[in-house]
Amino acid sequence: VSKEHQAFLGAHELLQKFYHHLLVNTKEGEHALEYLLSRGFTRESIDKFQIGYSLNSWDFVYKFLSKRDFPPEWMEKAGLIIKRERDGSYFDRFRDRIMFPIFDRNGNTIAFSGRSLGAEEPKYLNSPETPIFNKSKILYNYHNAKPSLKKLQYAVLLEGFADVISAERSGVENGIATMGTSLTDEHIALLRQSVQSVTICYDSDKAGIEAAFRAGNHLNNAGFQLKVAMMPDGMDPDEYIKKHGPEKFRNEVIGASLTWMAFKFLYFRRGKNLQLEGDRLAYIEVIIKEISNLNKAVERDHYLRQLAAEFSLSLDALKQQQKQMFFADKRNTSGKNQPVNKPIVIPKKE
Ligand code: UTP
Ligand code: MN
Ligand code: MN
Ligand code: MN
Ligand code: MN
Repeated sequence: VSKEHQAFLGAHELLQKFYHHLLVNTKEGEHALEYLLSRGFTRESIDKFQIGYSLNSWDFVYKFLSKRDFPPEWMEKAGLIIKRERDGSYFDRFRDRIMFPIFDRNGNTIAFSGRSLGAEEPKYLNSPETPIFNKSKILYNYHNAKPSLKKLQYAVLLEGFADVISAERSGVENGIATMGTSLTDEHIALLRQSVQSVTICYDSDKAGIEAAFRAGNHLNNAGFQLKVAMMPDGMDPDEYIKKHGPEKFRNEVIGASLTWMAFKFLYFRRGKNLQLEGDRLAYIEVIIKEISNLNKAVERDHYLRQLAAEFSLSLDALKQQQKQMFFADKRNTSGKNQPVNKPIVIPKKE
């Protein structure tokens, strides 16, 4: 590790401690602490996750680190201050925000995310990519969660800071988060070091469900055992816990999470009216395709029967269609034949 690298870590540690001090001990941080407590954050969580507050100042960090002989060029490179185009002067990146330190797997603070207290955009302002911070390699809370990941042998994958912290307070200590980015191969490699199973618990809004589908496919292709936990009314885990409490979260969200296939059944029927023949046939076709992609014959059989039962179809017809689709695919990929667009009529079971 280079001298520069060491200095960057040192600066982050100093700042993290000072931000935390500002939040919990000072008049300037009082409104920020009020905000957190009113959202349901506890003093215990605030300490455990070393949450802080950055002053409403344009040059606090600049002065604070200058006094400690940390050169401005480094502060800029570490993403802590920003250079003004017009005169080359500097200003602090994080001002009047709740500060969430981001730790690497050894517990070093390597970046920050600052949440605005009001309606200010962006809601979360993050450190940029720096020599010590690469967002696509970091999972929030991996460091804290590690013992629990090893013990429970699965991870709960969440979207954000508040979700991880509320889950932890609820006794779900194996929660980690991607912090708004999509799940990368590097994240997956990191997860693989501790677990083979993941329960995705993204926000149950449209964006979260789409992201869960993408992350799920990625994890599934990487060979993980998968589950997906859902909440009602588009809620996120933090909101759910605030409204329904820790026990319900553990039992009725995490404990009742869907298998990956059951999630896909739900996913593909969103926005469809299965009373309508067209929608129904399109849905059945997509599900047959999903079933065909399963590796285990027993699973294929199980879900095909489930589909047959739900739509009162004969298993034979479904198997027949599976074959037809398989050969249609073969023809399509040869590039010589036109795609087969003829709707396949599935006879109803008597
Ligand atoms: P959400 O929009 O779901 O926010 O983004 P949230 O976590 O529920 O935030 P609260 O509860 O209102 O405080 C999920 C995650 O995406 C990242 C953050 O990591 C956030 O926790 N994000 C979101 C950003 O990095 N920047 C943003 O402006 C918004
Ligand atoms: Mn990949
Ligand atoms: Mn979200
Ligand atoms: Mn959310
Ligand atoms: Mn939230």
